[in-house]
Amino acid sequence: MDNFTFYSPTYFVFGKDTENAAGEYVKKFGGSKVLIHYGGGSVVRSGLLDRVKKSLEKEGISYKELGGVKPNPRSGLVYEGIKLCKEEKIDFVLAVGGGSTIDSSKAIAAGTLYDGDFWDFYQGKERIKEALPVGTILTIAAAGSEGSPDSVITKEEGMFKRGVGSDALRPKFSILNPALTQTLPAYQTAAGVTDIMAHLYERYLTNTKDVEVTDRMIEALLLTMKHEAPRVIEDPNNYEARANIMWAGMMAHNNSCGVGRSQDWNSHNIEHELSAVYDCAHGAGLAVTMPAVFSYVMNHDVMRFAKVATRVWGCQMDFDHPEVTAKEGIKAFQNFLISIGMPKNFEELGAKEEDIPKLVEVLCRGDGRNGTISGFVTLNEDDCTKIYKMMV
Ligand code: NZQ
Ligand code: ZN
Repeated sequence: MDNFTFYSPTYFVFGKDTENAAGEYVKKFGGSKVLIHYGGGSVVRSGLLDRVKKSLEKEGISYKELGGVKPNPRSGLVYEGIKLCKEEKIDFVLAVGGGSTIDSSKAIAAGTLYDGDFWDFYQGKERIKEALPVGTILTIAAAGSEGSPDSVITKEEGMFKRGVGSDALRPKFSILNPALTQTLPAYQTAAGVTDIMAHLYERYLTNTKDVEVTDRMIEALLLTMKHEAPRVIEDPNNYEARANIMWAGMMAHNNSCGVGRSQDWNSHNIEHELSAVYDCAHGAGLAVTMPAVFSYVMNHDVMRFAKVATRVWGCQMDFDHPEVTAKEGIKAFQNFLISIGMPKNFEELGAKEEDIPKLVEVLCRGDGRNGTISGFVTLNEDDCTKIYKMMV
């Protein structure tokens, strides 16, 4: 196991009706003038936004509102939010929604305390040293941004989708009420499940030896997702299944399963170009990306793929031909994703084969990259071209 530090100070408030305590937690973490940030309207339609406002009013906390975050959140609204926070002397950003709203809130929180262009952080030109405190009220189990130090934003000029991480971005508190996720369309629920499983696989694919504790934690969470996802697709009102998925989603990405080991993230990098260009759900893009990436890099460590195949997907170990078991595990994972309603190829995702050269160029050369992406295996432009072609 590699040396590591682990700092995960988010205060989690989990369970039914917990959103009604939002005001108390904003106060606890020092907020007195809040920006409530939200998405395209689901929180308005469900009545959640009204309940949150009432809770702030009860505590005497004033607020401004900024809605309109799109899935795969854009830089334009972030600039607007930063301007608003500076003008209104906002001291706390409250994200009400999914990963996109939370990521946009984190970008606004960091950009408000920075004199330059917030995109400097996402380009790797500057490190985030401070940010306004952020709280979240989560409405979809997926990105894990409620417990992560990360934020992913798409710059409209060039459609660059890039991420940044900083401990300053970890939410001060996150309110997780599984019942809030019951209004999700089945496709969004399944995309969320896929993203959670991707966060686990990205950590499982490691070059670090002897990391049994985190290997076993990841396997347990993958097994949980395998068990709970079909139950929630069948019955969207299954609170207990939603509760297990929601907490698994947080644990999959707050890095408790990723400490002390190298991680992959090539599937995420390759997918980010798809959701940037085609505006597909990030999880749906991952459902198409992961089987291709895994099949391409499998021989780098066949036993690791055979291990997850037997321990999670119930495949029989073929000791003479571990590559057969490894392949079966990848196929079983893909079949599972298809069974919960996820796409299997470019066509079903809405992506186009003729765009592959452009996707590869932005992926490997865009925004200061040097022709490769690195993770479990370092991939060059030729490798990425082949991987995208496998998805057609
Ligand atoms: O915008 P509204 O109207 O709220 O609708 C949203 C949106 O259309 C809807 N939705 C959310 N909760 C709902 C609901 N509809 C009905 N009922 C509810 N309870 O679902 C749609 C998707 O929302 P979004 O916030 O985009 O979903 P998700 O949480 O999957 O976030 C995706 C973004 O997170 C990034 C992705 O790249 C993508 O941009 N990621 C962020 C990470 C992080 N910060 O740590 C890590 C991830 O790997 C990921 O890259
Ligand atoms: Zn993800």
